[in-house]
Amino acid sequence: MTMLSTEDNELLTRVGPGTPMGELLRRYWTPALLVSEVPAPDSDPVRVRLLGEDLVAFRDTNGRVGLVQENCPHRGASLYFGRNEECGLRCPYHGWKFDADGACTDMPSEPPTSVFKDKVRITAYPTHESGGIVWTYMGPADTMTPFRDFGTDSLEPEHVQATKMHSTCNWVQAMEGNLDTSHISWLHQFNGVDDIPDDGSDKPGYPSNPMSWKFWRHDRAPRLEVEDTWYGFKYVGIRETPGGHTHVRMSAFCYPYHTVIATVPLGVRHGIFVPVDDHNTHRYLLNTRPLDNSRGVGGAPLFSVAPFKLARAEVGGNGVIHREYTAENDYGIDREEQRNLTFSGVAEFVSQDLMVTESMGPIYDRSQERLGTSDKAIIRMRRLLMAAAKSVADGGEAPATSAEHNYFEVRSAEKILEDGEDWRELGTDADPLVREMDVHGVRDRTPIAGS
Ligand code: FES
Ligand SMILES: [Fe+2]
Repeated sequence: MTMLSTEDNELLTRVGPGTPMGELLRRYWTPALLVSEVPAPDSDPVRVRLLGEDLVAFRDTNGRVGLVQENCPHRGASLYFGRNEECGLRCPYHGWKFDADGACTDMPSEPPTSVFKDKVRITAYPTHESGGIVWTYMGPADTMTPFRDFGTDSLEPEHVQATKMHSTCNWVQAMEGNLDTSHISWLHQFNGVDDIPDDGSDKPGYPSNPMSWKFWRHDRAPRLEVEDTWYGFKYVGIRETPGGHTHVRMSAFCYPYHTVIATVPLGVRHGIFVPVDDHNTHRYLLNTRPLDNSRGVGGAPLFSVAPFKLARAEVGGNGVIHREYTAENDYGIDREEQRNLTFSGVAEFVSQDLMVTESMGPIYDRSQERLGTSDKAIIRMRRLLMAAAKSVADGGEAPATSAEHNYFEVRSAEKILEDGEDWRELGTDADPLVREMDVHGVRDRTPIAGS
């Protein structure tokens, strides 16, 4: 199958200012940091590196979040060390002060009669807080697209949940792991799956979570089908169950780096792969709507039967997940466990993904790949992204940015199909389950707010 030329690999992965992919990404509202990293008015400034640009975030006295260039335009000291006071960030070197819009509001090192400060501005990007994330728009003002509300603008405070984890590889190869359903039958496997009792949900309908593990292990070479959508595409991995039924895991890709992973019964949680720069990624997890699992669908939690730890943000912390397992400690791989208990030998679930995606190197040379039929979805994602970058470079619009779309429609699903059931209807408004959840008030169609 197709592999990428070296030029296409560069096109796909590079995100700095002026690169075609970097310009495409700058047409979308971009997660910059977690709201909880700038918790209160005049709290400490935070370094933010985003799409290869060094920035500083601060919450001003009125509660607005500013996101500005890191280096002071006077002689370049870092504004990270600045004083966040009285609605602006004041440089520690000579006291120049900038507000959240980038205007220089004070230049105390110049004579009081000077009008020089009116001529000085710093780069400042607009921000919008939603779902626990501070989003920003880094493109030119005249191409600004509406904020895409995936459901977070109307989320009750108790359902707001966002986390962030750093990964030392390019954003595309990090994201490819989320569009690769076949690896769940390998990387994340453990021998104890064979001992999970059959609870009778191997039949058309929604299986229990523990039974899903069994299906993934039973059929380890899923057939993939991809369907383009207005937001990107959705795809399924089709597996035969021990009972001879058709099990599907359907996941979604939404431009430019959102993924919604298959979940029983429906998925609404976004995995977002935001480039820090070409060689580093922030993996965000974003809760977009409360999902009512009290109706019993899904059964016991997925990880209640797995022998894996799950890295979590510290309770009472700011949502940033600190990694215990990294390249430096070989992801804590335990060779005895790998021989006897688990496929990977790595104790923490996400670290299993990080081990394989980071070990490819900062940017994998895709001209060296040998792709198989199970790589269909990642091939589609690459093609769509490269085509969109070229289109924007030619003056076109970035896909999936219109305010006309209902961004709540980006959903995933996992199910055993009834006879004649089409997986393409799962998770759409035609899916009875989606309608049922509407009744429960889960899907609140508020108008999409511009920002
Ligand atoms: S370098 Fe910032 S005020 Fe002089
Ligand atoms: Fe994975």
